[in-house]
Amino acid sequence: WSVRRAELLELMQGRDSAYVYDAATIRARCASLKSLRSVSRVLYAIKANSNAEVLRQVHGAGIGIECVSRGEADHALRSIRGLAPAEILFTPNFAPRSEYQWALETGLRVTVDNLYVLREWPSLFAAREIFLRVDPGTGRGHHQHVRTGGIHSKFGVPIDQIDEAIRLAGKAGARIVGLHAHVGSGVFDVGSWADTAQQLAALLPKLPHVRAIDVGGGLGVPDRTGKPALDLEQLDARLSDLRQVLGNVELWLEPGRFVVAESGVLLARVTQTKRKGASGYVGVATGMNSLIRPALYGAHHDIHNLTRLDQPPTEVMDVVGPICETGDFLGHDRLLPPTQEGDVLLVATAGAYGAVMSSNYNLRAPAEERMI
Ligand code: LLP
Repeated sequence: WSVRRAELLELMQGRDSAYVYDAATIRARCASLKSLRSVSRVLYAIKANSNAEVLRQVHGAGIGIECVSRGEADHALRSIRGLAPAEILFTPNFAPRSEYQWALETGLRVTVDNLYVLREWPSLFAAREIFLRVDPGTGRGHHQHVRTGGIHSKFGVPIDQIDEAIRLAGKAGARIVGLHAHVGSGVFDVGSWADTAQQLAALLPKLPHVRAIDVGGGLGVPDRTGKPALDLEQLDARLSDLRQVLGNVELWLEPGRFVVAESGVLLARVTQTKRKGASGYVGVATGMNSLIRPALYGAHHDIHNLTRLDQPPTEVMDVVGPICETGDFLGHDRLLPPTQEGDVLLVATAGAYGAVMSSNYNLRAPAEERMI
């Protein structure tokens, strides 16, 4: 973003806040995913950022789509010209019966993650091909809220219920053609996806029709300058080691954050500053209504004063929004140059789970999105 500083400041003329996405960064991340030799298909988890222009960039790079609601799938089909329903993997969780029915009739690939749907709604699945989402038993990720394995997580069919799932699918007349698992989000252990693949591969002897194993998303992105990035080559190497075990079964990957996190920044104009004892506050025009990750997960996003990028940072400040909650902060104890009303602050690595999780809380409209 620092090389496009002038453009970003220009874009903020007459605005108080904006999410800005860099198309070239999205294309670069897509290209690195497409270069993984062990992975036959990459799906983009659109929950990370469903901006229509982002979706078109991703699909244009040869990447499919993963959706978790009818709303997401409808939006993807509307936004991307030429998107075939079969390019969408639908991975709902505790969704109503009507959504499964719609997805199957529309031709999406559907993932089942609960025996309930096979037992209670068997007629929906007659003569259908389905994916089975498996809970490998342990979750991983940057915060407890985003770890999706183990009995305390609501996702997936535990390994000890797989036999029953196979029986119920057979009884319903459904064919299990894919296995799926997603253990969590913000994972930096390069072996994680191979571990998942291995656990799913162990089930293959029971599932003669399975043609693909989807090892989920969760690829971590460093939240601050200087932290090492996930080693994609290592990840690829670990997955490639499994090729022999897998035979003709394909490996699929479905990242969200990795595709978009670093493409996006949140820009927000400084409204007021305040001192209270030892604490200093810089207030900006938008806060948790645009970016809830700091409040929800204690997530870190680097913050820079874009207006005064050349000036030395001298003061330690909390960066806060205008929302009436003490949790409304974008960053604590941030070293900034002397900052004034009207300056533009930049919140980095905000392209994933930013705009999509925004709200109108306090009836303050969240930041608008722009692609450059
Ligand atoms: N596949 C499934 C089934 C998922 O549930 C998710 C994310 C992904 C793929 C993509 O995960 P990613 O590659 O983006 O880590 N709001 C949280 C993240 C929640 C992730 C939910 N599921 C955050 O801001 O960190």
